[in-house]
Amino acid sequence: MSNCVVTASRLIGKNIRSLSVRWAEKPPKPGQFVNIRADGAFLRRPISVCDYFDGTLTVVFEVRGEGTRALAQCVPGQLLDVLGPLGQGFQLPKSGDVLLVGGGAGSAPMLCAAKALSGRASVILGFRGAEHVVLDREIADAAREVYITTNDGSRGFKGFPTLLMPELLKKPYAAVFVCGPRPLMKAVAQIAKDFGIPCQVSLEERMACGVGACLVCVCKTRENGAETMRRICSDGPVFDAAEVIW
Ligand SMILES: Cc1cc2nc3c(=O)[nH]c(=O)nc-3n(C[C@H](O)[C@H](O)[C@H](O)COP(=O)(O)OP(=O)(O)OC[C@H]3O[C@@H](n4cnc5c(N)ncnc54)[C@H](O)[C@@H]3O)c2cc1C
Ligand code: FES
Repeated sequence: MSNCVVTASRLIGKNIRSLSVRWAEKPPKPGQFVNIRADGAFLRRPISVCDYFDGTLTVVFEVRGEGTRALAQCVPGQLLDVLGPLGQGFQLPKSGDVLLVGGGAGSAPMLCAAKALSGRASVILGFRGAEHVVLDREIADAAREVYITTNDGSRGFKGFPTLLMPELLKKPYAAVFVCGPRPLMKAVAQIAKDFGIPCQVSLEERMACGVGACLVCVCKTRENGAETMRRICSDGPVFDAAEVIW
C-alpha cells in the first residue's frame, strides 16, 4: 500500500478522466492494475495501469458510480491510497507483431502494452462516439498503426473493432490482446481463434481485497479440460482466452 501524491487530474473525454500519481513502488507491467481507495467508498476500486513513466503512474477511468465520482474529485497535491501493481498482466511474445483491441475505457491498458511492444503493435480502439475517443494520439505515438471505430460512425470506421479484424489478421500476428466490454472480448477471442492466433483477454469483475484473499472476483475457466474457479485479481486479470468460459 502506498500513499501517493496526485500530480495531475484531467477530463480527457466525455465522462472519462486521467489521473496521475507519483509512484515509488515497483514499476507496473502492461495489463496489471492498481486498487485505489476513493474518498468515502468502503471498497477500493480496481483500475488498469494506463501508463508508467519516470516515477509517474497514470490511470484512465470512466466516471460510473460513487467510487469513480470520488476519484474524479482528486486534485494535484492530495494524497491517494493506491495498492499495486496487482495481478498478472499481458504476456508479451518475444517476437512478432501483436494486435491490441481496446473498447471504451478498456483502451487504457493498451497504451502501456503498445509502449512495451515498442513498434510491434497494431491497435484498434472502439468507442461509442467521437466525444468518447481518448488516448488515440498517445497510442499512435507508441504503436505502428492505430484504427478508430465508433458505434455511430462520428469518428473513424462505423461499427465495432471486430469489423476491422479479418482484414488486419491477413498479416501474421503472434498474439491478440483485448480489454473492454465482455461481449467485445468474447467476439475478439472468437475471431482470433478462427485465425489460429493466441488471444489474451483482460477480464473485469467487481473486487474487494484485490489480492486473492476474499474470492469476490472468481470466474469460471477451463484448465487442462477441467472447469476451475480462478480469481480475476490474482490469477488474472489477463487470461488466455482459450481458458475462459464465457
Ligand atoms: C482489473 C480491472 C481493471 C479495470 N480497469 C479499468 C480502467 O482502466 N478504467 C475504467 O474506467 N474502469 C476499469 N475497471 C472498472 C472499474 O473498476 C469500475 O468501473 C469501478 O470500480 C466502478 O466503481 P464506481 O464506484 O464508480 O461504480 P459503482 O457504483 O460501483 O458501479 C457503477 C456501475 O459499474 C458497474 N461496475 C462496477 N464495478 C465493476 C467492475 N469491476 N466491472 C464491471 N462493471 C462494474 C456496476 O455494476 C454499476 O453498473 C476495471 C476493473 C477491473 C476489475
Ligand atoms: S478481489 Fe478478493 S480474491 Fe479477488
